[in-house]
Amino acid sequence: MSEDVFKKIVSHCKEYGFVFQSSEIYDGLSAVYDYGQMGVELKNNIKKYWWDSMVLLHENVVGIDSAIFMHPTIWKASGHVDAFNDPLIDNKDSKKRYRADVLVEDYLAKIDEKIDKEVEKAAKRFGDSFDEAMFRQTNPRVLENKKKRDEVHERFAKALNDNNLEELRQIIVDCEIVDPISGTRNWTDVRQFNLMFSTEMGSTADGAMKVYLRPETAQGIFVNFLNVQKTGRMKIPFGIAQIGKAFRNEIVARQFVFRMREFEQMEMQFFVRPGEELDWFEKWKETRMRWHKALGFGDHKYRFHDHDKLAHYANAATDVEFEMPFGFKEVEGIHSRTDFDLSSHEKFSGKKIQYFDPELNKSYVPYVVETSIGVDRMFLSIMSAAYCEEELDGGESRVVLKLPAALAPIKLGVLPLVKKDGLPEKAREIIDQLKFDFKCQYDEKDSIGKRYRRQDAIGTPYCVTVDHQTLEDNTVTIRYRDTMEQERVAIDKLSDIISDKVSMKNLLKTI
Ligand code: GAP
Repeated sequence: MSEDVFKKIVSHCKEYGFVFQSSEIYDGLSAVYDYGQMGVELKNNIKKYWWDSMVLLHENVVGIDSAIFMHPTIWKASGHVDAFNDPLIDNKDSKKRYRADVLVEDYLAKIDEKIDKEVEKAAKRFGDSFDEAMFRQTNPRVLENKKKRDEVHERFAKALNDNNLEELRQIIVDCEIVDPISGTRNWTDVRQFNLMFSTEMGSTADGAMKVYLRPETAQGIFVNFLNVQKTGRMKIPFGIAQIGKAFRNEIVARQFVFRMREFEQMEMQFFVRPGEELDWFEKWKETRMRWHKALGFGDHKYRFHDHDKLAHYANAATDVEFEMPFGFKEVEGIHSRTDFDLSSHEKFSGKKIQYFDPELNKSYVPYVVETSIGVDRMFLSIMSAAYCEEELDGGESRVVLKLPAALAPIKLGVLPLVKKDGLPEKAREIIDQLKFDFKCQYDEKDSIGKRYRRQDAIGTPYCVTVDHQTLEDNTVTIRYRDTMEQERVAIDKLSDIISDKVSMKNLLKTI
């Protein structure tokens, strides 16, 4: 897949009411998006798939919904006030601001591209006899580029690890990285920039308090650990799940809903006995990967990316990456966070946050394994995998969203063949029967062919056409989105045929 396909997906999202630029009539607000009438249905279905997989399928996982505003000391305790930073650099000519680490990453990616192009060219030249591994090991131009890449990468990783901002700038200078707008190398120093948004609570006369818009939902779970454990009489191991908005003042905000300033997370903190966290980490890794793969887009689209550099509070971390049109990218993070958060909240709040383990007959601060996934990234991964352009017989083509039926915004399109002779009324009758089970859409405008295309474009798995024969024998033609096959079925069989395939329960059973 390419950037071209990505552009098409972005415009498809707009054209069919999935995603709009926020505040569009005011020329938009960068990296903020609104979900439209189709997008919200798909998003809600994704959230339901996640929520049910956590709290329905696990007796020991319960949910909460905590507030976005929290006591500001929480963000001191979590480390976000001091360390939730990105390194920034400005170009003095264009006055544009960049993430210094992203400038270097883009530079490294360009070298990789150069190497890949070299390999591609050779593959064309040599045809079937081409030995790619051998070529990569021996071709002088490839080796030279690889050496350059590895040297810069090593310096870069060290600079990030040591938090050495001067060295980060020096790498940009040494690599002769230019500003894509001004084309110059007139860079400022690199500075740290905190990603949290803040606002004020209370009036100024009362002495307003600076509060933050939460940059992750997880802290709402940590600070409610004892509330939930005590009131729910939860025994370790147990988990708390939450879906909610998070906010980050991202400097490089691009790639559509992949990196937003206001986004939604689905997080689950699983509290375990100290010493058992790495076993649970492995278990949750497997469980989460099964959840992703159950959507049926193909196992090759997913991979784990283990972190080389661990945050100071983590003793294991991995990302679930998905093959987006712009390469494999993180969709979910799974982290073994030790007792860092709960211990830190104990220290900052002065309150004991411990669990008495009746089997061990002692109290301890539980360890935590976290699974954290972005709803919007999940949405983008699903749209990317489902988007399909197909050539049809007779020189026609169609765009179809091959969404898993349980996630599709509309499950059934109901189409009267003509707008008269009682067919619209019959179509409405069918909707009235089925609307309690799943979302139906009535459409009578344009030819049947055009209406099928519109339903294909929003991923509707089934359409039924109501024609004159329907009035005589109560049958309709059902058309299947993926195969485009059609068959005649009785109206009273529709619910059985469709319910089974669109059911969230059946999807959950495949995890
Ligand atoms: N509590 C852990 C945590 O927040 P993270 O890796 O920073 O970890 C978790 O974020 C997930 O949230 C990511 O894997 C991604 O799916 C999503 N996410 C993070 N920043 C995002 C952004 N700016 N826009 C959209 N999704 C984002």
